[in-house]
Amino acid sequence: MNRRNFVLGTAAVTTAAAGQQRKPASDGGNTPVRETPLRAGYIGSDYYDDKERRELNDVLETKRPFRWYGPGDEPPLKVLTFEREFAARLQTRFALAVTSGSAALSTALAALEIGPGDEVILPAWTWHSCYNAIVLAGALPVFAEIDESFNIDPADLELKITPQTKAVMAVHLQGSPCQLDAVLAIARRHRVKVVEDCAQSMGASYKGRPVGSLGDIGIYSLQINKTITAGEGGALVTNDPILFERASRFHDLGSLRAPHQKAVGSPRIDGFPGSQFRMSEFTGGVLLAQLRKLDEIVAALRANSSRVYQGIRDLPGARLRLLPDPKGELGTAVFLGFETKEKRDRYLVAMKAENVPASPPSGSVILPTVPHVVQKRTIHPAWPSFTTERGRLIRYGAECCPRTIDILSRFAGVSIHPRYTRRETDDIIAAIRKVYPAVTRA
Ligand SMILES: Cc1ncc(COP(=O)(O)O)c(C=O)c1O
Repeated sequence: MNRRNFVLGTAAVTTAAAGQQRKPASDGGNTPVRETPLRAGYIGSDYYDDKERRELNDVLETKRPFRWYGPGDEPPLKVLTFEREFAARLQTRFALAVTSGSAALSTALAALEIGPGDEVILPAWTWHSCYNAIVLAGALPVFAEIDESFNIDPADLELKITPQTKAVMAVHLQGSPCQLDAVLAIARRHRVKVVEDCAQSMGASYKGRPVGSLGDIGIYSLQINKTITAGEGGALVTNDPILFERASRFHDLGSLRAPHQKAVGSPRIDGFPGSQFRMSEFTGGVLLAQLRKLDEIVAALRANSSRVYQGIRDLPGARLRLLPDPKGELGTAVFLGFETKEKRDRYLVAMKAENVPASPPSGSVILPTVPHVVQKRTIHPAWPSFTTERGRLIRYGAECCPRTIDILSRFAGVSIHPRYTRRETDDIIAAIRKVYPAVTRA
């Protein structure tokens, strides 16, 4: 289930205790845990109120939709303030607002000077944007397997490092950090840079520090399926003034505007051709209001997911998703593992019959199996990613990620919404307690 399908229910009909006794509805038991399915919902946009409205009105009334200048004596400040508060929240020296998470990834790779001849390692299970950013930089994507956290497996990451490896994408998927200590140690040992992709985990932390603040660069998406949102948007954080300067220049045609120049002290880099990924003041205003609600949203998500974990913790043999830092998890879903895909699929059917739907891990793709990846297609036949010797020899396809495919086929999760009521989390507990033992026993 991805964020599009986040469920937000209303009518509850039974309690957790009652749910434990009965036969699953899919096995002929006649009373499902809920009469109606939990309904779908989003997170950040569900928290829109007068605060976002005031920010938007302000931009309309001052007629200053562009981040760097506009009419009047006052400079526009929405995006700049968002950047300052974002850096403070993420505990980093610098933050850069951009148009999307994909733009943030391309900007991060540009900041790290990644290009033709370089290799970048990414997990076999993540979003298209990760692979695309590497290819669009002219570098070679190299896949590593995932572990049961659904994130990059550090042991396989180390096996994939070559003298050409310049960076690794440590992607924190579906609310949970990857095994970051191990990834950072391996990267340091091999002098490889770490880009933390926190698109799906804004608000999560790792051993007390916000995800994104521990690698060389962290990136975020602020698209509608994410923890906070303006429909579209992205951001990048770093503690390194040179990386920030190069990122700022790349996102704005190669130039460094005065406020960012002031932030880095004196410029250290000459201009170069960049892209145009500037955020508008409308987006900045909405994101500022959303960012100020982030802690409230994260606390509600964690409270609801903790209730569910507590409610199922005594289930015999229950196997959870590997959580490298359970306290730092965002809590957007509660995943359970099964011995086989058949049992997992029976769980999906049975949970649906209880009107508490569960889904396989989602919001990402098994990239090595995507047809244009298998065929190494690019927009030009001489694209540098695949013209080096390594690029010509590399083979993608299901063969390069059998463990990833196996793990994803054996897990299923129930999404958690921060606005769930106690009744709704009780229904989730009741459905899992009713269905999981029946499926795993069979
Ligand atoms: C892991 C990951 N990285 C990057 C992105 C790209 O973000 P955007 O859609 O804002 O370009 C996404 C989007 O869902 C994502 O899930």
